[in-house]
Amino acid sequence: MGRAHAQAFRAAAFTFDLPAEPELDCIADIDEQRAAQAALSLGFRRSTGDWRKVVTDPAIDLVAIATPNILHAPIALAAMEAGKAVYCEKPLAARFEDSEQMMRAATARGVANGVGFTYLHNPMIQFARELVASGEIGEITGFRGVHAEDFMADPEAPFNWRCEPENAGGALADIGSHIVSLALHLAGGIESVSGALSTIHTHRRGRDGVERLVNVDDQMDAVVRFKNGATGVLAASWIASGRKMGLAFELTGTRGAISFTQERLNELQLFRAHGPSHSRGFVRIEAGVSHGDYAAFCPASGHQLGYNDLKTIEVKEMIHAIHGLPSLNKDFRFGLDVERVAEAIRTSHHSQTWANVA
Ligand SMILES: NC(=O)c1ccc[n+]([C@@H]2O[C@H](COP(=O)([O-])OP(=O)(O)OC[C@H]3O[C@@H](n4cnc5c(N)ncnc54)[C@H](O)[C@@H]3O)[C@@H](O)[C@H]2O)c1
Repeated sequence: MGRAHAQAFRAAAFTFDLPAEPELDCIADIDEQRAAQAALSLGFRRSTGDWRKVVTDPAIDLVAIATPNILHAPIALAAMEAGKAVYCEKPLAARFEDSEQMMRAATARGVANGVGFTYLHNPMIQFARELVASGEIGEITGFRGVHAEDFMADPEAPFNWRCEPENAGGALADIGSHIVSLALHLAGGIESVSGALSTIHTHRRGRDGVERLVNVDDQMDAVVRFKNGATGVLAASWIASGRKMGLAFELTGTRGAISFTQERLNELQLFRAHGPSHSRGFVRIEAGVSHGDYAAFCPASGHQLGYNDLKTIEVKEMIHAIHGLPSLNKDFRFGLDVERVAEAIRTSHHSQTWANVA
């Protein structure tokens, strides 16, 4: 993700007319040598093995965090304390209390802040939001969404930081946060949840060959009630054999529906309940110059954007937010809203009852 950030900061300056051009100044990694190599290959001026040196450096205005989740809070808090803007990867923090603390610190310090819910910046998701806002599909009645990938489907896939509960491991935190973000972005606030978490592969070997107990979820399934009366289901799995980027949803309304999968990120299926019933159906709409920021990348419709382009749009929104310009930046407040839903799903799982979203 650090590489994706570096690429997006470079590309944003090239793609958009930004109020300030970002310069890649210093990159930190716990492995000092790796940091030095990354600085060379990604084009940073300097590198360090200690992130603390970056967050207190007066030459730096913005700190981008692409570390394991457990480090999001300490790095963000130190950076905000030093008056820096912070662009933090999702999930906002490893622990719910840390997310709340980050939100409080951001408010107290008054620094610009953003969280990496990259898929929300897809021009087709921007279009979907416009369709909802304009009432094109009527009142929202349901959101059925899933984020399914298979990078942990092999029981021999090694134990890594994503398997540690203290590191906000598990499918819910890692990829479930994306489908929760989409639900909130498109269907509105969630009031209550009934969730279940399951661990299918209970033991995994580390790269050292030692077998460890896995204490995080491989799969999350939840029934949700939205504040606007709509209902839905949210699911996440990182053991969904065959699925590489199955971030998909169907959003239904009283006058239409929208269907999307990130596996075909340049298109959206739209159903409008207009016209004679025998000619109604989902229409495939291809991304083009009139959708969101598409035209900044390509002057011709249908030529297709990729994941890194979404990251580039996200960085542009972050830089606009820093400069007080109108922005679709998703800030820590939104990141905390996602964490509130995730926390309610955990609470519901443990209590085996419905849980209200705080
Ligand atoms: N927005 C998205 O689409 C998306 C996609 C993938 C990952 N992510 C997020 O990005 C973050 C990183 O994920 P990843 O897949 O790149 O992880 P990764 O394990 O591949 O990379 C983490 C990097 O952090 C470094 N690191 C570890 N401890 C450190 C320390 N104390 N100081 C400095 N550097 C340290 C590691 O050496 C490594 O280079 C996570 O929060 C993850 O949720 C977001």
